[in-house]
Amino acid sequence: MTYQFNNQAREIEINKYSTPTPWMNYLSNGTFHTMISQAGGGVAFYRSPQIWRINHYRFFHLPTDRSGFYTYIKDGGDVWCPTNEPCKTKPETWKAAHGMGYTRFEAGRNGVHAVATYFVGKYENALIWNLKLKSETDKKITLFPYVELGMMEFMRELQWQCYNKHQLSAYAIDDVLVYRYGVETQPKPEETPLVYFAADVPVTAFDCDRDEFVGAYRSEENPQNVEAGGCTNSTLYGGDPCFALQIDLELKAGEEREVNIFLGTAMTEEEIKRCVSHCREKGFVETSYAALSAQWADFLRKFQCELPDADVQTMVNIWNPYQAERNFQFSRNISYYATGTFRGVGVRDTAQDILAMVPFDLCRAKDKLNLLLGQQYRDGHCNHYCFPIEGWEPLARIHSDNHLWLVMAAYHIVMEEGTLDYLEEAVDFYDGGSATVWEHIKKSIDFTMANLGEQGFPLMLASDWNDMLYKVCREGKGESIWTSMQFGTVLHQIAELADRMGENGQKYLDIYEAQKKLVNEKAWDGAWYRRCITDDGTFIGSAAEPQAKIWLNTQSWSVISGMGAYGKAAMDSVKQYLDTDLGIKKIHPSMMTDYPTKEGNLTCYNKGCGENGSVFCHANTWAIIAECLLKRPERAYKYYHQLLPMVAQAKAGEWRYKAEPYVYSSNIFGPESDKFGLANVSWLTGTAAWMYLAVTQYMLGIRPNWDGLEIDPCLTAQMLPAKVTRVFRGCTYHITITKNERAFIPHETGREEFEITI
Ligand code: GLC
Repeated sequence: MTYQFNNQAREIEINKYSTPTPWMNYLSNGTFHTMISQAGGGVAFYRSPQIWRINHYRFFHLPTDRSGFYTYIKDGGDVWCPTNEPCKTKPETWKAAHGMGYTRFEAGRNGVHAVATYFVGKYENALIWNLKLKSETDKKITLFPYVELGMMEFMRELQWQCYNKHQLSAYAIDDVLVYRYGVETQPKPEETPLVYFAADVPVTAFDCDRDEFVGAYRSEENPQNVEAGGCTNSTLYGGDPCFALQIDLELKAGEEREVNIFLGTAMTEEEIKRCVSHCREKGFVETSYAALSAQWADFLRKFQCELPDADVQTMVNIWNPYQAERNFQFSRNISYYATGTFRGVGVRDTAQDILAMVPFDLCRAKDKLNLLLGQQYRDGHCNHYCFPIEGWEPLARIHSDNHLWLVMAAYHIVMEEGTLDYLEEAVDFYDGGSATVWEHIKKSIDFTMANLGEQGFPLMLASDWNDMLYKVCREGKGESIWTSMQFGTVLHQIAELADRMGENGQKYLDIYEAQKKLVNEKAWDGAWYRRCITDDGTFIGSAAEPQAKIWLNTQSWSVISGMGAYGKAAMDSVKQYLDTDLGIKKIHPSMMTDYPTKEGNLTCYNKGCGENGSVFCHANTWAIIAECLLKRPERAYKYYHQLLPMVAQAKAGEWRYKAEPYVYSSNIFGPESDKFGLANVSWLTGTAAWMYLAVTQYMLGIRPNWDGLEIDPCLTAQMLPAKVTRVFRGCTYHITITKNERAFIPHETGREEFEITI
């Protein structure tokens, strides 16, 4: 087995470095971040990977997963790395483990044993490499910690490297290496940090010039200075920089030596001195690590369960909330698949990510939603994505769904908190003026009402949730049936909020009824709901069409919105046409590149890939929720279980699936592809937040509402009995579910513990 879960330690242990793709982890303190693989490859950045990236990471190029955070161990003529990569000489014993905010490697060769733990602590903006070394015999070894630096702006590097590289410098201040990104055209020079590299043991020599350290026609596999046994104290004022240290160590038989390396950022040389001396203080690394563990324990304790299904338990207690938190933080910015070059904070995606943060940290959820509300215009629409750190102009495209997700996120916050206080907070509009959160979300409704199409559904505008649909509406006339259902869902939510705010909720319910009528009269196709209407009035997603006849989203949301008079039949069609036993396809059959017309084709994706007939995991979550609302636990469990990453990976096979078995991917190639089962775009995907909601709020059925905690489970025998601990409004609820029966626990102020068995 390539891996095993160690749930006690909240880790996944990986026994083989050559996984089919890099299996990543994210280490972060909210300011300094590192993505690191099971083989030590990865990339570090300060706040933004677009403008403050620290090291090179070569996406998709061969050799894969380079460069990274390596420590060469030179033991006589032998050179190897605890990360396994990038040396040809491999450790004799090796395993890696990804945990909550840290990654650890344990390796041994020729009687030398190394444990290398990487993490980013909360006290300094630095990636800490904690190395523990032991030898079976007395030995003198040399360590060479190494990072290949790059230009901080990756896109500028690709375009302007030949000139701008001569504006970089890397040098030593005593035994601390410093890198300065001096490029004159950078967007925020006054906020650009210096980067430092230091050890907490004496350093014999260093290198800052990559070519000096690595040598000609070599790579990180066999740097020449490592082979030669020593660094050459090269500095770099123009060229290709790196950080390399030479640390000579004497190991006494059986005795453990600890070496810490710090790759960090600070604004000035003075500050670097302060940071490094702080890092070098006795106990600093230990305290930082303990704080990290405590922080994750505190985060995760807010929802823990005991279930007979071990895989579900692993996901619910550990990896799903962990992944959801990383999504909340990084949006869709940087992963092994996304290069971190152009996507900022997407309003649509982030608003959905907020839903999973709400039960864990209301402050962070509110701050993020306020950021998104700040992208809203006075007429109610909002920017598509923004760049709060980089300061670039937002992408101002108007989509039919973005502003409506804001209503849903605000609703979740209010229900978690049980007060209307948040709705009274003031947030500026993007185009000037300020309003309360409540006024903002009412504008969302107004905007959709002001942008209904000829048939009465919301105009598609620049697409709805499904990006691919941008082509059906070039003339501005296309309409989205799915957005009507999303609209319906949030109309119910805002109607409830309006009543609580002492306003007229009924007016929203009236709009709901009108949209509902449309959905059932114009969008019902006979066995499912149609998807959208093109500029020229063609209904996409109909049995009468030659391709893409049935689409998942309008079936699941017909139930979620409560609008679908034929919701049950629609979900039966999902089972019949879209379910593959390895997830539910988004559309069936996949399209050719001539549909609906050659000129106005919806997609260039190959059949079964990505947006065209793959298993789009994000959308699968809504089918699970719909089945729960229909009270069909067997179906809900099937749809949920088959997409658990470890289950899907085992079914498809490790090499076919490729991605991590501990986090969700965005999509999996469908059966119309010859690579059915290949998972793509793992880690950063809306699947994380919604899977979490699907299992906790719909299958386990534990949902906050205004008056308290509602328990409305929809579980099969595999999931029973389910024991859940849920922290809600300051009280810890111990809930045992033995059957699918509804219960309600009214909230009582001051109550600290509560136990209930259903
Ligand atoms: C990607 C995008 C998301 C979009 C989805 C479907 O996941 O990040 O915004 O909703 O694709 O097109």
